[in-house]
Amino acid sequence: MNDRAKHIIITGASRGFGRDLAVHFAESGTVLHLIARSDMSGLVHELEASGASVRIWQQDLTRTGDLEGLMTDIAETVSIQETGYIGLINNAGMIDPVGPAGKYDHQEYKKNLEINFVAPVLLTHAFIHHFQDWDMARRVVMISSGAASKPYHGWSHYSSTKAGVEMFVQTVSLEQEKQRHPVEIMSFNPGRIGTDMQKIIRETSEEDFPMVHDFISAWEEGKIGDSNVVAGQLVRLMLSGFFPTGQSLSHRDL
Ligand SMILES: NC(=O)c1ccc[n+]([C@@H]2O[C@H](COP(=O)([O-])OP(=O)(O)OC[C@H]3O[C@@H](n4cnc5c(N)ncnc54)[C@H](OP(=O)(O)O)[C@@H]3O)[C@@H](O)[C@H]2O)c1
Repeated sequence: MNDRAKHIIITGASRGFGRDLAVHFAESGTVLHLIARSDMSGLVHELEASGASVRIWQQDLTRTGDLEGLMTDIAETVSIQETGYIGLINNAGMIDPVGPAGKYDHQEYKKNLEINFVAPVLLTHAFIHHFQDWDMARRVVMISSGAASKPYHGWSHYSSTKAGVEMFVQTVSLEQEKQRHPVEIMSFNPGRIGTDMQKIIRETSEEDFPMVHDFISAWEEGKIGDSNVVAGQLVRLMLSGFFPTGQSLSHRDL
């Protein structure tokens, strides 16, 4: 790594794991591009106090027709001469609606597919399109889940979108082997971490999610991971000399 700027693009940066990632990346010489729907002005002050520059891109990621333009707008702010590293973390996600396929409103399932699969894939396509030939580190991380490889009753859309994202990673990594300046890409499962998403899971009915008691017990017994700690581990990996492109890692591997 050199002393040129690092540009880090994080989706779902307003709270939870994405916010913790932004805090760990924040330092002088880093430009953070934060994407979410909520107002992030409080977070901006905190990150700037650590020396980072921050650009907010307020965007609903289910508006998937906007995403190519969003990445183009971000890319226009990145100078090839002044930059040494570009990262994209597709972190935004949603678990709702929880319940067996066929039960809930079609539009709710569609939103889940858009935020968990369509948006990260389209943003990655646009990222590769803009930065393919740039001779510097360009790293993409897809935030996945243990649910990508284990079916849970009530999570058909969540599990299948995460599994889809993991296959996307393997395929893109294979394609990139042929490139002069390959973009590196991996997926990462943070494990159960204490964010709003876990709260939503604990509040689900047993009818929709029979495993709910397991998640409640894990919470009561203090067996839920610390989002801030796991975020720090992932940031260290992303900035290290070794990046396991094409692989699916979990918090247990770090
Ligand atoms: N929590 C866990 O135990 C756990 C376990 C395994 C994997 N994961 C994965 O970790 C990632 C982060 O989850 P988390 O637990 O931090 O979730 P969270 O606390 O619910 O945060 C979700 C983030 O996604 C953003 N988001 C949601 N819908 C959006 C939309 N339509 N447009 C733009 N941004 C949107 C939210 O921002 P706004 O609401 O401001 O838009 C928020 O910043 C997800 O991919 C999740 O699947 C979490």
